[in-house]
Amino acid sequence: MNNKPIGVFDSGVGGLTAVRELKKLLPDENIVYFGDTGRNPYGTRSKNTIIKYAKQAVRFLMKHDVKAVIAACGTVSTVLDEKAALDILGKDMPYTGIVLPATRTACAMSAGGRIGVIATTAAIRSGAYGRAVRAISPSAKVFGNACPLLVPLVENGMIGVDNKISRLVLEMYLRPLMKEEIDTLILGCTHFPLLYDLINDVLGYDVTLIDPCVSAVAELKTGLTKQGMLNESADGGGRVNYFLTDSPENFESVVALFLRGEANGKITHIDIESIDA
Ligand code: DGL
Repeated sequence: MNNKPIGVFDSGVGGLTAVRELKKLLPDENIVYFGDTGRNPYGTRSKNTIIKYAKQAVRFLMKHDVKAVIAACGTVSTVLDEKAALDILGKDMPYTGIVLPATRTACAMSAGGRIGVIATTAAIRSGAYGRAVRAISPSAKVFGNACPLLVPLVENGMIGVDNKISRLVLEMYLRPLMKEEIDTLILGCTHFPLLYDLINDVLGYDVTLIDPCVSAVAELKTGLTKQGMLNESADGGGRVNYFLTDSPENFESVVALFLRGEANGKITHIDIESIDA
């Protein structure tokens, strides 16, 4: 057994969908969450900048002695693969982004091999999903669309099925994918699962939606179980230590939106300059 925490990082608050899933699937685990709220969004930045920021996040989590790391950021996951991340970790330990778990689920669920991906501009530009899908299902077709307007809509709570503005924006983004008759859609940004019901409604026909954090956390659970690394101590677990690079003023309300519950942990503001670049 191993009672060290699991580290989760994101450009900001989207990674809270991974925290939500961890709380569901691994309720006894403690979590250290790093949200780079002072420098987000990452999705409009260059590959090199995103990698530099991700390195800092991983180093920060390592200082907190985590036993595993989830890159709960769609953008980071497309530019920093698991192999490159292991170099930064400096040791062999469980690490997962969201691209591979989401792709494995999508390939397994897609009946006709027509897979759509919505994500940030940087994530779509990377071509990571196309490569990942072809490695598993060479005959499958991947159709991507960058959706830069969705992150601010989600962060402003505009997620309900009756939200006319988000519906309009989603219709614009999903129309080209619907024309391609996708049968599966990867929600390739960790903010997007909050739009799950609205996306379903806008699509209006039977498309399997893939929440990447559900796949990533399920795979992590399998890995930790196999390696005997679950927290089986009697300390109760389930605590989250949040570290944010911007002032945490509105964070409680964002947590309520993403986790549908309380933060249940300490929220600390950290100075990004104090982490080695
Ligand atoms: N959660 C990030 C992602 O999944 C949000 C987008 C951003 O920082 O641009 O890509």
